[in-house]
Amino acid sequence: MLRCDPNWGWGAQKALSVPGARGSLRGFMDSVNIGMIGGGTVGSGVVHALQQNAALLSSRIGIPLAIRRVAVKALDEPRPYPIKKSLLTTDWQQVVHDPQHHVIVELVGGTTLAKTIVLTALKLGKPVVTANKALLSAHGEELFATAARHGANLYYEASVAGGIPIIKTLREAFVGNRITHLYGIVNGTCNYILTRMTAEGAGFADVLADAQRLGYAEAEPSLDVDGFDAQHKVGILASLAHGFWVKPAQIHVEGIRHLTALDIQFAARLGYAIKLLGIIKRLPAPARSKTPNGARIQVSVYPALIPQSHVLASVSGVFNAVFVRGDIVGDTLFYGRGAGKDATASAVLSDLADAALDLKFGTAGRVPPFVPHERAGAVAPLAEVHTRYFVRLNVVDQPGVMAAVAQRLAAQQIGISSIIQPEGHEGDVVPIILMLHDASNRAMSRALAQISRLRVVKGAPVMIRVENFA
Ligand code: HSE
Repeated sequence: MLRCDPNWGWGAQKALSVPGARGSLRGFMDSVNIGMIGGGTVGSGVVHALQQNAALLSSRIGIPLAIRRVAVKALDEPRPYPIKKSLLTTDWQQVVHDPQHHVIVELVGGTTLAKTIVLTALKLGKPVVTANKALLSAHGEELFATAARHGANLYYEASVAGGIPIIKTLREAFVGNRITHLYGIVNGTCNYILTRMTAEGAGFADVLADAQRLGYAEAEPSLDVDGFDAQHKVGILASLAHGFWVKPAQIHVEGIRHLTALDIQFAARLGYAIKLLGIIKRLPAPARSKTPNGARIQVSVYPALIPQSHVLASVSGVFNAVFVRGDIVGDTLFYGRGAGKDATASAVLSDLADAALDLKFGTAGRVPPFVPHERAGAVAPLAEVHTRYFVRLNVVDQPGVMAAVAQRLAAQQIGISSIIQPEGHEGDVVPIILMLHDASNRAMSRALAQISRLRVVKGAPVMIRVENFA
């Protein structure tokens, strides 16, 4: 089976010392063999995508790629695309250790077995492709350090925003840019729910139940609707963009459970849409900064009002989009399917091509997968971040209420840009909507704590940050 094709340029000695198969491939490698762990939705999608396009991919990169083995939990588990029985095994260890497997693809999900699989492969010096955002979020620092120690790359295009090539874009296309702003709609489930709440005036719980029935949302929806899936992705993007490892605990996260159709309606009247945004922003260094040379960044996930005229406002349904501003390139936008077997398989194929090319040319370190270039960087606490705010209060409809609220805001130096008491809400208690000028989140929290203590304010105030992309 092994045959030397001089046209492929395998002459590079480095390329030939292919990990896990040291010596055995010298001058004879005629294809890059893939050992895959996980044959579920994404795994079977990758098998199917390669069946469809392996010849195209191979002719583009000049290297045939073949899946040689797929380790699965159970041989007969249902999968969206069939996988040939002869490829299947239940022994992942055998797949990882087989010296004929040059690249290992981890698609099992979770952070326990997946971590063992990835570490085992990297320690054998084998390049690993993963789609596992939770794994990278929890253990990325250790995994990338292990990869570097063993001269193997860890490829992770499929971990963020499915089919959108945002990892490659940040890592390679924008290698000459400082990333000043990144805004991502990176959770399709939340975007689907918010799109339907906006279009139909429906409540969160009703749309979620419907999304679960249709299979768009998981039976246990917390990972998506409480913002944790977006947190994993935003941490990965922030680490890549700013060159220091951002830990999940450093990322402020709010989900969408508390959003109401009423808030979406009021926001729309003011010219805004509400989107769950991952936000990564380079902040100005404070006067006496402990890290004068490093980036100080905001990294957060929360629902935000965004102008209806902004391009991200038109991203609907399960689609994802990532808006990136670089100091050289300016504003850019990447849009596509953030999940699903085919879109995710497309990202895995891109990584497989990179892994094969890196093996071919001995260039595992060409543009390293994670580049620690801002050693002195730091994540700023959200309390220090300045934004604008939309606030909805339920208040007793009597004179003096606005004065009391305005006084609590003024005490924190927060200015009001507009106030609406929408018509059509009769009764003792009515909603009022305030749009507020820029203030720190610390000042806003203090003001809200004061406001919620007012006797005339009923229930908890609703606060949603406003993002103007300035
Ligand atoms: N559950 C995610 C979403 C896809 O709804 O976007 C996988 O990250």
